[in-house]
Order: sequence, then C-alpha cells, then structure tokens
Amino acid sequence: MSNASTNQNPYYITTPIYYVNDRPHIGHCYTTLVADVAARAQRLMGREVFFLTGTDEHAEKVVTTAKEKGHTPMEWATINAERFKEAFAFMNFSHDDFVRTTEDRHKDRASAYIQRLVDSGDIELGDYEGWWDGSQEEYVTETAAKEHDYKSPVTGRPLEKRVEQNYFFRLDKYEGWLKAQIESGAVRVLPEARKNEVLGRIRTGLNRVPVSRKIKPGDPDWGVVMPNDPEHRVYVWIEALCNYLTMVDQPDRRRFWPRDEPLAVHLMAKDILWFHAVIWPAMLHALGERPPATVYAHAYWIAEGKKMSKSLGNFIEIDTLKAYAEKYSLDAVRWFLATQGPLGANDADFAHARFVEVYNSDLANSVGNSASRVGNMVGKYFDGVMPKTCDGRFGFEGGRALQAALAARASTGKPAEGESRTFDLAALTAGAVERYRHALEAVDLEAAMGEGLGIVRAVDEFITYSAPFTLAKKFGQIEHAEGALGAILYSCAEALRIASLLLSPAMPEKTAALWRDWNCAHLNDPADPNSGFVAPLAELAAWGGAHSIQAGQGIAKGEGLFMRADAAEAAPA
Ligand code: MSP
Repeated sequence: MSNASTNQNPYYITTPIYYVNDRPHIGHCYTTLVADVAARAQRLMGREVFFLTGTDEHAEKVVTTAKEKGHTPMEWATINAERFKEAFAFMNFSHDDFVRTTEDRHKDRASAYIQRLVDSGDIELGDYEGWWDGSQEEYVTETAAKEHDYKSPVTGRPLEKRVEQNYFFRLDKYEGWLKAQIESGAVRVLPEARKNEVLGRIRTGLNRVPVSRKIKPGDPDWGVVMPNDPEHRVYVWIEALCNYLTMVDQPDRRRFWPRDEPLAVHLMAKDILWFHAVIWPAMLHALGERPPATVYAHAYWIAEGKKMSKSLGNFIEIDTLKAYAEKYSLDAVRWFLATQGPLGANDADFAHARFVEVYNSDLANSVGNSASRVGNMVGKYFDGVMPKTCDGRFGFEGGRALQAALAARASTGKPAEGESRTFDLAALTAGAVERYRHALEAVDLEAAMGEGLGIVRAVDEFITYSAPFTLAKKFGQIEHAEGALGAILYSCAEALRIASLLLSPAMPEKTAALWRDWNCAHLNDPADPNSGFVAPLAELAAWGGAHSIQAGQGIAKGEGLFMRADAAEAAPA
C-alpha cells in the first residue's frame, strides 16, 4: 500500500534481543507477540512499519553453556538463534528483520557508535570495583548486593567481586536531561507505575556506567572489542542496546529513526527497563540521536500460579504453546496471550482453566458463534447472497423484538406498548474504531482487542433483540419482513466485518478465513502481512464504504472458526 496517501509517521517497534544460551519460552514469545500485534495493527491503520526482533549473542553465559554442551560459542549461538527463528515463524510473527548481534552488519556499526562516544568524551577509562552478576551479565550496586546477601537479586546465584580497569559511560552527565525527558513524557515510560520507579531511581543520582572488561589471557574470542583499545572488550549490554539503531541506521531505513523526533517503541519486561529507559536514551543523546518515543516494560507470565524457574522446571516452553495451538488453533493462543498477558504492572498467570474459559467466552461463544450464525442465516434465507445493504440504524418500538413490533403493527396498525429501543451499528463501529486507535497509541492491546470483541457482543445482542430467525418465519405474512430481515443480516455482517478488521492483528489466520468465506479477501494479502492493507483502517472500516459488504455479495457459511472447548479436558502437552 502506498503510505504517501496516509500522511502518517512511520512506526518502529522493537523487542529485546534474546540471549541464545537457551531455547525460547513463553516470555520471549509474549513480548514478540505484543510487538507483532502492535505492528500489524499499525499496518492496518495505514502506517509504514518496521518491526525488529533478534538475538543477543555475545553474553558470557553463551560461552559457558556452549562449553557444557560440547559446542563452540558460535555453533551454540546458531543452534539457539535458529530455535528462536523457528518459534517466531510458528507464532506467525511478522517481523521485518531478525538481527543476530554476531553479524557484521550489527557489530561494525555498534563499534562505530562506541568510537564516537570515546571521541566525544562520553566514554572514558577508569577503575572499577563491583559485584558482578554472571547470571544476568551485569554489575549489581553495593546496596543491592548487600540487600540480597551477595546473591543475584534476579536468579539468586552468588555474586562475584570484580576489580578492573574499565571504560565508563558518563551517564552522570545526563541526569538532568533524562529526568526532564521522562517527566515531560518526551520519552514515554509505560506503564505509569514503571515511570515513577525509574524517576525515583534517577533522583537518587546517576553514576558512570562501566562499558568494557579487560580481556584476560585465555578468554574466548567472543564479543566486540573496544575499537580504540584491543585490550578491552565491550560489555555485552552496551553493544546489544545498539542493535535498535544499527539495524535502521542505513539509507533505506533511516526514516525509522528520524534525526528530528523520537519515534521508536521499545518493548521489554520490567527486568531490563533501566537499560532501556535510562542508559540507552542517554547513549543516544550523547550520540546526537533522538531517544525512543516509548519504552514499555510489561510484567511477567507465571505458570499455574507459580513463578517460572529453572529449578522448578515449570517454564512454559514453545512446545507447550504448540500443543495448545494444535488443539485450539494458533490464533486462540495468540488471543489468550495478547489479551490476558502481563502488559500492565501485574504478573499474569498461564493457567489451563483460564485459557479454556477465555477461549470459550471470547472465541467459541462470541467471535466464532456470531460469524457462523450470520453466515448460516444468509445461507438459509437468502441462498448465501447478501440481498441488500442497510445503514445499520434500527428503531424498535414497544421494547420488544422486531418481529413482535411488526406483528403488532400488522394486526393493529399501531406499535406495541412499552419502551422503544434503537440500535445504531454504524455509529457503534465508528466509535470502536476511534477508541481502538487511542488504545494502540498507549500499546493497550487488551483494550484495543476489546473494541473488536465489543462489536461482536453488540451484534449478538442485536440478533437476540431483533430475532431474525423468528422474522424469517413471517415471510409472506408480514409486509416487508424479507426486507427487514435483509437489513438485519446486512448490518450484522457489516459490523462483524469491521470487528474482524480490529481483531485481525491478534488473529490473522482466523480473520483471513472469515474474509475468504465472505468474499472480503481483497482487503489484504494474509500470506504477506508486511505488505499491509489496500487502504487505511479509517477507509476500510467505513460503514457502507467502498470496502464494505455489497448487495449481491456471496457470504458462505464456512467451517466455523472456533469449536467450543470442554473445560473438563486436561491441558494439552
Ligand atoms: N539479552 C537481553 C536483552 C537485551 S536487549 C538490548 C535479555 N535477554 S533475555 O533472553 O533474558 O530476555 C529477557 C526478556 O524476555 C524480558 O525483558 C521479556 O521481554 C522476556 N521475558 C522473559 N521472561 C518473561 C516472563 N516470564 N514473562 C514475560 N516476559 C518475559 O534480557
């Protein structure tokens, strides 16, 4: 699609780049799914999107694990990078690039940035003594080390005292600037609770940050060497953060990191917020680049009420997600993760019972049921062809279903008594589209997807109220019954078409199936999500517009999108 016509900024969204010492699990898939849904939704709105994910390969623990497994670090990194790529393909993610930090295209530019920071005096040599958390590849402050009994605050592994000559990044110089950026929202730290935490910590004062380690004899040749000093190796975090810029700092992608305004959206969990909200923006500022626009740190998935850990062995692995997808469909897994996940400040529980509950209530009993009811009725009453269009506005008199009002009118010529009720499905869908846009600005997927689901629920209510199946029995008895039924079904189908657009970022396969059944498949090319839609959402979702369901359009019954699930069945494994 041509973006020139939409006049909107491009959208750049990133995930953390994941360590390759192990396989991907639900946590990695989750953050990447959030990015995928956001990316697809922005494409739907007509924006040009760049969605980046990848792997962080130069960590020391990659070297350690590779050795345990009998591989070279590069072999082990490749094995796991492939597992990530395979998992992300399985999850149907639509990333535009996958960076491996061992690639030259990343390393070369990352070195150049570090050299620039050395040249500008933002990186300087000094002495460092501190507590090294090998399990997290980071130094822990004296206070934090003491508080956790000299064990890793994250993994509980023992900390190691390290004294070394290091290069330091002068984070201290940027304290005032950072505070102003975050306070003013120029760099938006979300959710709000996280912003306050970050600001609180900045206010306690910022120190220089070590950014290199002296290379010891026998150290494996793994990682990026300080460009000005071959005796030092760049600390993996500093090099890794650079990926967000290295991958777009080239002529054909530079528009995704404009020089005049913040644009990037960085997603991650709260464990690594500090690096993204403080160190990285300061590095960018020192480089003369704009900081990210949004830094979003979600909370964690836990499993059946328990924190996931190696020792409990209760990580939800990609294989578990595959088993769920096999049984309930991949889009059901995507839906559950996207709408029930820990996007806010609180952790979320992956519990089987909850999965089935959400599956039945949102998907089988709502989206799937509504679509098949409407498809079935068009099939049954109009031979599968939409008979007419309608503006989506209905007034029911007498507080009863349409057929009752019609029947009353037929016999007495007057409306039945009682309250009247109106439905305006066109206005309802327009409101939902507007709120959808706002929810996405705040990366609030649950609210955004809720707008799509809200339309489906409104259609259900409208069907119950207008009782088209009863009306159908009055064909030939009540004047206009056929026309009224056509109007009802058109309005349901058109509202569901709009709902399906809103739901498509979370459920691209199921919505594509519906569009095939309903002859709407021209809206986009599901096989190539990155190509975008034929028009921006504002046009696609316009009621009765060029992309709407037309009179005479074939509406096939289809296979049924989601079969009801039995809550008593055991979790798939
Ligand atoms: N390599 C660094 C990131 C460098 S970014 C420049 C790293 N990698 S990681 O493999 O440990 O991934 C951490 C990220 O994985 C979290 O920030 C989060 O995005 C995701 N998750 C890991 N466990 C998670 C949960 N239990 N729940 C949700 N997301 C989690 O840190």
